[in-house]
Amino acid sequence: MKTLTSVLLGGVALMPVAAAAGELNLICSADVVICEKLVSEFEASHSDIDVNMVRLSSGEAYAKVRAEARNPQTDLWWGGTGDPHLQAAQDGLTAEYKSEMLGQLHDWAQGQAETSGYRTVGVYSGALGWGYNTEIFKQKGITPPNCWADLLDPALKGEIQIADPNSSGTAYTTLATLVQIMGEDEAFEFLKKMHANVSQYTKSGSAPVKAAARGETGLGIVFQHDAVAQAVEGFPVAVGSPCEGTGYEIGSMSLIEGGQNEAEAKAFYDWVLTAEVQGMMPEAGSFQIPSNASATPPKEAPDLSTIKLIDYDFAEYGSAERRKQLLARWDKEVGSLPLQ
Ligand code: F6P
Repeated sequence: MKTLTSVLLGGVALMPVAAAAGELNLICSADVVICEKLVSEFEASHSDIDVNMVRLSSGEAYAKVRAEARNPQTDLWWGGTGDPHLQAAQDGLTAEYKSEMLGQLHDWAQGQAETSGYRTVGVYSGALGWGYNTEIFKQKGITPPNCWADLLDPALKGEIQIADPNSSGTAYTTLATLVQIMGEDEAFEFLKKMHANVSQYTKSGSAPVKAAARGETGLGIVFQHDAVAQAVEGFPVAVGSPCEGTGYEIGSMSLIEGGQNEAEAKAFYDWVLTAEVQGMMPEAGSFQIPSNASATPPKEAPDLSTIKLIDYDFAEYGSAERRKQLLARWDKEVGSLPLQ
C-alpha cells in the first residue's frame, strides 16, 4: 500500500509522506504474473493512484461482483474469459462506458462491447486446446491426441486435468465449445466418459498445463497460449489443437456499476487498452492476441488464422440463463461423479 509511507531515518520516525491520492480496487482474472506487471506499470505511470489487486478466476470474479452488488467493493474487473463478463453486464452489475480507445480495437473486441451494451470490452483473445508433457507421453507410449474424441482413449486414464467450469472461465469455454460442436446431450455424454481419464478438476484454468509441465499429469485442457507459456519457460510441453474445431475466448474488462473510484477505474481502463501497454504482455509470459489493432501480437502466440475455430456464440453462452443452466447440469452430471 502506498497511501501513507512512514519514513524511518537513523531510528527517528519522520512525518508520514502522502504518496497516492486515489485508490483503485481491481479484480484481475488472468495469470497472476501479468496482473502484477500491469499493477506495477500502472502505479509507476500514475503515481497518484494506489491499486489494490486481487487475482480471481473468471467464475469466482463474477461471483464476487454479484455478491457485492448492493455495496460494491470493486471498481474494475480486468481479464478473464468474456462469458461471465457478459453475464455480469446482463445482470446490470457492470457499468456502461464508451472509452475513447474503442475505435483502436479489433472488430471482435468492439463486438464484445456492442453485445453487452458497452458494459464490457475485449482486451485479448486466444483459442482453446491442450498442452501435454511430451516426456510422459513418450515414457508411457501414449499417442498424442489430435481431436476432442481422442481424449477418451483409455491410455489417458488419470492423465487429464481440466478446471471446474464454475470457478474457471477456461473450463466453461470448454463446456460451451463442446456443446456447440456436439450438441448438448452428446457433449455431456462425452464429458462423463472423459471423466474416467480426469485426475483433478482444478480451480484455475491454467493450473492443468502447469501441472503437466511439472510432470504431475500428462495433459491439461487449457487455452493454447497457456500451453505455449510453459513451453517458452523450457518445460517439455507440446500444444494440441482439436481436429473437430475449437472455441476461443474474448478476454474482457468491465467497469463495476456503483464502484467507488470511477475516475481511477476509467484511467486504468483507457491506459490498459493502449497498444503500448498491451504490447507488454509477453514480458510477463502472456501470449494472447491483444485487442488493440496497433499492438503487435507476440511472436509466440498461436496463430488464430491457422486454427479451426468454431463460430462461438458469445451472446448465447454469455447469457445468464444459458451459463447458469449449463453449470447446474455440469454439477449434477459430471462434478458429482467420484474421481477414480
Ligand atoms: O491468463 C491466462 C488465461 O488463460 C486468460 O487467457 C484467461 O482469460 C484466464 O486465464 C482464464 O482463467 P480462468 O480459467 O482461471 O478463469
